Order: sequence, then structure tokens, then C-alpha cells
Amino acid sequence: MRIVSGIQPTGNLHLGNYLGAIRNWVRMQDAMPADGECLFFLADLHAITVHNDPVVLAANIREMAATIIACGIDPARAILFRQRHVPAHVELGWLLNGTARVGWLNRMTQFKEKSGKNREGASVGLFGYPVLQAADVLLYQATHVPVGEDQKQHLELARDIATKFNQDTGTDLFTLPDPIIPPAAARIMSLRDGTAKMSKSDPSEASRITLVDDADTIAGKIRKAKSDADTLPATIAELANRPEARNLVGIYAALADQTASEVLTRFEGKGFGTFKPALAELAVETLRPIRERLNHFRADPAELDRLLDHGATRARALATPTLAAAYAALGL
Ligand code: TYM
Repeated sequence: MRIVSGIQPTGNLHLGNYLGAIRNWVRMQDAMPADGECLFFLADLHAITVHNDPVVLAANIREMAATIIACGIDPARAILFRQRHVPAHVELGWLLNGTARVGWLNRMTQFKEKSGKNREGASVGLFGYPVLQAADVLLYQATHVPVGEDQKQHLELARDIATKFNQDTGTDLFTLPDPIIPPAAARIMSLRDGTAKMSKSDPSEASRITLVDDADTIAGKIRKAKSDADTLPATIAELANRPEARNLVGIYAALADQTASEVLTRFEGKGFGTFKPALAELAVETLRPIRERLNHFRADPAELDRLLDHGATRARALATPTLAAAYAALGL
């Protein structure tokens, strides 16, 4: 088993990232048998496909590393590194540009969302972004990739690229990776709009809970979260047309490690005046230990750099054979 996943070091980690991805990284790391390997990286090369202030980006990279460690990733067991420190990602990404088809990339919904109406003005990097992402996982022969729902299409593309490369070169070089998507938290939505994904790029801070928010901030954001005047029903089916209510129940379920049905059994007939304070308390208590550990790790940037360098050394060693085989397969 080889687990690989990444996160962009832009802004603070939010509840969607945590429940949709990072918590799963930690669980997979903790359950990993001795002969398996977990690689987690900061996708700093992906971050530059949109404009970022270099000073802010440099600070965010360390901050994200500290946050991931505070969430429970142990750099002694998992390989934690910066993508930019393993040039093989870029090299394989370029090789795979020869395999990926423009038509495939044209179908990527994330590019459509991120480029919006200004497609012609988007960077070439933003368009080719999923090819680098394919290289990120194929480089390590990943068997499983823990991600939120929004990355599923990119993972399918990685499988298509791997299949075509293997066929074109008459090899079985690349392993086809399977996405691991958590059922309860695959898609955490904005607190301001139950139809939009919770996202780092949403201009409204009130739309997301971040792992650096203190107890009062978390409680305030949940109090002000969009909801409705109805009470909670007995079944999830009855929440079909209440996206905000469904999202808040889903967040509770994910935080409590329960199903949404179990949450509704407990809160059936209660309004948001009762549900929101319970959710706020649960969120504060779940995130409190992470925030306390984060304050500890961010106090020692030199140690963070040392840990990331050590992770990169291990990742480079694992990447070398596959990159060499990819060059050879192409006759280079
Ligand atoms: P990124 O940085 O946007 O998000 C990191 C992880 O968090 C998940 N996620 C969510 N899950 C549930 N609800 C949400 N609202 C939510 N928002 C984000 C994402 O699905 C992701 O798992 N392209 C990737 C980074 C990347 C990568 C990779 C991932 C680069 N190379 C290789 C896996 C494998 C991204 O931008 O994720």
C-alpha cells in the first residue's frame, strides 16, 4: 500500500480540508502496516498557477506544514515534504504532457470554475495543473489517494493518463491509483451558502471555520451560519431542499464520527437555536487540541524546515526509479 496526497499551501486549513482530507491522512498513517508508505506534500508548485504574493506564500508553506503536523501527521512515520523540493514531480509532469490530451483537460470542472469567464486570461499552468497532479501520485506508484470529492475528477484523469502511457509505451510502468473519499465529509459546504463548497478562496471569512480560529470565533461563525426556521426532521431525505441545514448536520456528523441519521435521531424536532450551540461546542472541543499543538509547532520554523528537508530526501529516493523508467520508456 502506498498512500500519496497533497494540499495547496494557500491560506489556513479549513474544516473542509480537515474533515474531507487531512483527518483521513492521519487515520491512514496510523493504520499503515510496516511495509506500506505514506507520502504527504505541500503542493507549492500548484499554488503558483494563480497569483500569490511571494512573501505570503513562503509564510503559508511553513504554516501549512505546522498545521498538518498539529493534525497528527508524524514526520517520523509519514514522509512529509514540499513538492518544489522534489524536481522529479516537474520532470514527470512534463513527460506526461505528451500523454494527456487537450480534450481531457478541457473537461476539468475545477479549471472551468477557477478560470471563470476569463478563460483566455488564465495561466497555462492552471490549465495543465491536473497533469502535474497526475505526476504527483504516479511518480510514487500510489495505490490510494485520500482526497475530498472535488479532487475525484483529477484522480480519474491521473488514471486515464497512466493507462494511456502504459499502452503507448507497451509497459505496465504506472500503478492506477484509487481515490479514498470519506463518506461523511466528502464535500463540506460554505457556512454562508449551502450550495457552494467551503473554500480557501471564498472572500468571506465567515464562510469557513479554520484551524486557527479560537473558540469565540468558531462559535460566532456557527451562530451566524445561514440556516432556516424549520426544526430538524427525522430523515436525511427530508433535508433534500434545505442545503444549509443539511450541511450543518453533515458537519456535526463528521466531527462526531457519526452518520447524519444518528445526528438527526438525536436532534429531531429541535430548531437551530438548540442545534447550533451544540455544533459550536463540538467544533470547539474537536479543534482545540489541534490549535494548541499548532501554536507549539509554529514557534520553531527552523525545526519545520528541517523536517520538510528530511521528508524531501526520502521522497526523492522513492521517486528516482519511476522517473528513470518513464524516461527509458519514452526512449530518452
Ligand atoms: P486543496 O488544497 O484545494 O485541498 C486539499 C484537500 O482538501 C479537500 N477539500 C475538501 N474536502 C471536503 N470539503 C471541502 N469543502 C473541501 N475543500 C477541499 C480536497 O479535496 C483535497 O483533498 N489539487 C489539490 C492538491 C493536490 C493533490 C495532488 C491532491 C496537488 N497534487 C495529488 C491529491 C494528490 C488541491 O488543490 O487541494
